[in-house]
Formats: sequence, C-alpha cells, structure tokens
Amino acid sequence: MTAKPAPQMPAPTPERNDAKAAGAAAGVALHVAIIMDGNGRWAAARGLPRADGHRAGVEAARRAVEAARDLGVTALTLYSFSTENWRRPAGEIRDLMNLLRQFIFQDLPTLKKEGVRVRVIGDRASLDPELRMLVARAEGETAGNERFLLQIAFNYGGRDEITRAARAIAKEAAAGALKPEEVTEAAFAARLDTADAPEPDLVIRTSGEKRISNFLLWQAAYAEYVFLDVLWPDFDHAHFVRALEEFHGRERRFGGVGAA
Ligand code: IPE
Ligand code: IPE
Ligand code: MG
Repeated sequence: MTAKPAPQMPAPTPERNDAKAAGAAAGVALHVAIIMDGNGRWAAARGLPRADGHRAGVEAARRAVEAARDLGVTALTLYSFSTENWRRPAGEIRDLMNLLRQFIFQDLPTLKKEGVRVRVIGDRASLDPELRMLVARAEGETAGNERFLLQIAFNYGGRDEITRAARAIAKEAAAGALKPEEVTEAAFAARLDTADAPEPDLVIRTSGEKRISNFLLWQAAYAEYVFLDVLWPDFDHAHFVRALEEFHGRERRFGGVGAA
C-alpha cells in the first residue's frame, strides 16, 4: 500500500480573483449548485422570527449570483424550496412563496439586462397559478440569454423529478412513441427538469448539515461536495471563493484511475 498523496490544495487567499483565474485557466464551464440552509437558525440566534432569516437568505442568494458571475462560474442552481418543505407551518410556506414572487418581480429586469437565463426546476403544477405565470414569464423573457444560467429549484425534489420523468417515458412508451431500447441515460436526462443544462460540478451546502436532502439526485452523480459551517444568510463572496478553492484542489476521477 502506498500512502495517498496529499491533495494539492491551493493556499487560501483573500484575493478575490484567484478562484476566477483557476476556473478560467482550466477553460471549463463551471456549474455550482447550492443547498442554501440555515435561515431558521440564523434568525433564532438573533431572537428573530424565521421569516426574517428567509428574507436575509434572499439577500445572500443575490450576493451568490453576483459572486458566481464574478468568479467565472457559468451556471448556478439554488435550492429554495424542497418537496419536503410542505411539512413546515402554513405561515412559513406562505412566506417562502412570497419571497420567490418578490425575487422575480424585483430582480427580473436586472437579470434580463445582464444576460442571465432564469429557469425554475421542480414541480410547478402544485404552485398557485399566479406564481406559475410569473415563473413562466421569467423563463420566457430570459430564454435567449446565454451568458449565465440561474436555476431556481423550487418545490423541487430529486425523487419527484425522476418519478415525473419516468412517468413521461411510460406515457410515450404506452403511446407507442418510444421503444424500451430507446430509454437510454441521455433519453432519461432529457426528460428531467434540468434537460440540456450542464450537470453540477460542485454542490455546496451551508449550515453544517452534511446531507443532500433530495437535491439533484441524478445530476450530482459525480459532483464534488463542499460543506460549509456558515449559516446561509451569512454566506458571502469569500465563502464562495473558499468553496471554489477546495473544489479546484480535488481530483475528479469519474470512476477512472486519475493522474499518477
Ligand atoms: C433554508 O433554511 C431555507 C429553506 C429550507 C427553505 P432553513 O429554513 O432550513 O433553516 P434551518 O435549517 O431551520 O436553520
Ligand atoms: C434543504 O434544506 C432544502 C432547501 C435548502 C430548500 P432543509 O432544511 O429542508 O433540509 P433538511 O430537512 O434539514 O434535510
Ligand atoms: Mg434547514
């Protein structure tokens, strides 16, 4: 047995362009997905209602979009509401729905202008019709943008997404439009909400929890995971840089043997 070589970790640096340089040098498109966790604990620590934590969480999400674009990331997926979050009190659910509505209202013009394509992944059938229309508008008005992809995972669950894709395939097969041998990985992926989006390279989870909570189960098969102890409302540019530095220090093998 030979000792495992120490991973090549770049020295942490406050220099904000380092991670960008690393990404740009590698010449690769980078998709980062974030499980934005810890709003409730952030609020509790301040004696504030959970709603305040969620509001501060939206501010952090805005900062994250800015940081991502600044750091050479080309796609960002933000986990905002899971299919399991319906287990929360009705008032909190209402707050979270309202925050998505407000975010689209307030930020759509800027996102549009800045070349950001917005896409919402998740089951929207059970969202209220007005919110559904707003989501469709955001997607429609930014469909031609190519500079940056912002995916908002809302009423999203990996199992639900996979189940819906399987159902779509079953329907096509039953109608005689799809043969069993045509059900390939690519055909399956094309029926997921994320069809034609790149797979995440890096999944970040804040708040110290180390679990995936039903996020991008199919797509993150070979993503790198970075868990940060920061609560989501406190997440800033420096945390993003730190996560990217850790990512760039990892060796991705995709099942192969890797470098010597
Ligand atoms: C993340 O923060 C936001 C959502 C899940 C909607 P939480 O609300 O889960 O915050 P904690 O985990 O209770 O601190
Ligand atoms: C995951 O956070 C979902 C989102 C961030 C939207 P949760 O707070 O819902 O996850 P668990 O319940 O701690 O696993
Ligand atoms: Mg949580």
